[in-house]
Amino acid sequence: MTGKTTKRQGLVAGKVLLTGGAGYIGSHTFVALQDAGFDPVILDDFSNAKRSVLDRIKLICQRSEIECHQIDVRDSDAIFDILKDRDFVAVVHFAAKKAVGESVAQPLSYIDTNVTGLLSLMKAMERAGVFNLVFSSSATVYGNQDVIPIPETATRSFASPYAFTKLIGEQILEQVGHADPRWHFGVLRYFNPAGAHSSGMIGEDPADIPNNLMPYIAKVATGEYERLNVFGDDYNTHDGTGVRDYIHVMDLAEAHVKSLITLIKNSCSHAINIGTGQGYSVFDMLAAYGRAVGHDLSHVVVPRRDGDVDTLLGEVGRAREEIGFSAKYGLDEICASSWHWINTGAKDAALEGED
Ligand SMILES: NC(=O)c1ccc[n+]([C@@H]2O[C@H](COP(=O)([O-])OP(=O)(O)OC[C@H]3O[C@@H](n4cnc5c(N)ncnc54)[C@H](O)[C@@H]3O)[C@@H](O)[C@H]2O)c1
Repeated sequence: MTGKTTKRQGLVAGKVLLTGGAGYIGSHTFVALQDAGFDPVILDDFSNAKRSVLDRIKLICQRSEIECHQIDVRDSDAIFDILKDRDFVAVVHFAAKKAVGESVAQPLSYIDTNVTGLLSLMKAMERAGVFNLVFSSSATVYGNQDVIPIPETATRSFASPYAFTKLIGEQILEQVGHADPRWHFGVLRYFNPAGAHSSGMIGEDPADIPNNLMPYIAKVATGEYERLNVFGDDYNTHDGTGVRDYIHVMDLAEAHVKSLITLIKNSCSHAINIGTGQGYSVFDMLAAYGRAVGHDLSHVVVPRRDGDVDTLLGEVGRAREEIGFSAKYGLDEICASSWHWINTGAKDAALEGED
């Protein structure tokens, strides 16, 4: 444990830098960390976030100010300037490009942001003497697997430049951790983050065509898109559509808090799946969103996409055992929270032209 931690009502606390903290998962984690007694600080270049999210976090957290630095995570000296002499206990590294399809079109840009960004961050942390790092990894590091649910011990591979950056990121942490015992890493392999904060004030709001299923369904629900394209209904699943493990973003945020507390208290690294272990199909998701909205949503079945698999589910026992995390929320809560956000925060932001 570093000497910088303080105890607050028996909990570990202290300053935590969130790279990409203005983004979808980062903003929810900011709130969860503050609730747990930490003092989060944001670093973000706002390439995929609106500045107005800061005002929304302030309202949720009832704070008059938030410390936020508009910096590119590849700028190691600028990160060092934030960290030095400041009593940071840890960093959570969200900042990354995340669209699988785009990564195929722009592999160098993805490798630069995601891999160079990680290295530049770690160099700054080392200079500043901050050695606890929680890393946003992804179930994409498992590639295609035969054994479902997927255990953390499964062989890792990559099927896109994006997945490559996450796998390389994990391997960098493993090598550094083996060679230098000062470092402790929490590698969190997210399954499918979805939903929004219960306040309805922050959530996922992609400007472009959404890469993920839920924001796409949300746009069908608002009428922006006429119907959902369902890519194949002849998979080997209960209704023929692909089954995935959707995790509520508020649960995911809580997992970061537990990972951080474990890193700081136990001074040892972990690599774990963050999911629910429960699978839902595209049709399950469409029906649940329809229940949240109050009417059925249109869809059309179109041919399968290359690379899609029947079922992707994570084994969740290690998360329970190593960091004491298990998901609280299910599919209906995920859909209801998304719809609440679409009808409140996201609508206000669009009406007010927030940037
Ligand atoms: N959302 C998902 O489905 C999912 C699934 C698995 C893993 N992840 C990983 O989780 C992390 C967070 O994802 P998210 O969904 O919140 O994405 P997001 O795009 O909402 O958040 C990422 C944030 O990083 C910022 N950023 C991007 N490049 C930057 C740079 N060079 N310097 C500083 N800031 C930069 C963006 O402005 C954004 O605010 C990412 O690392 C992503 O790869 C996401």
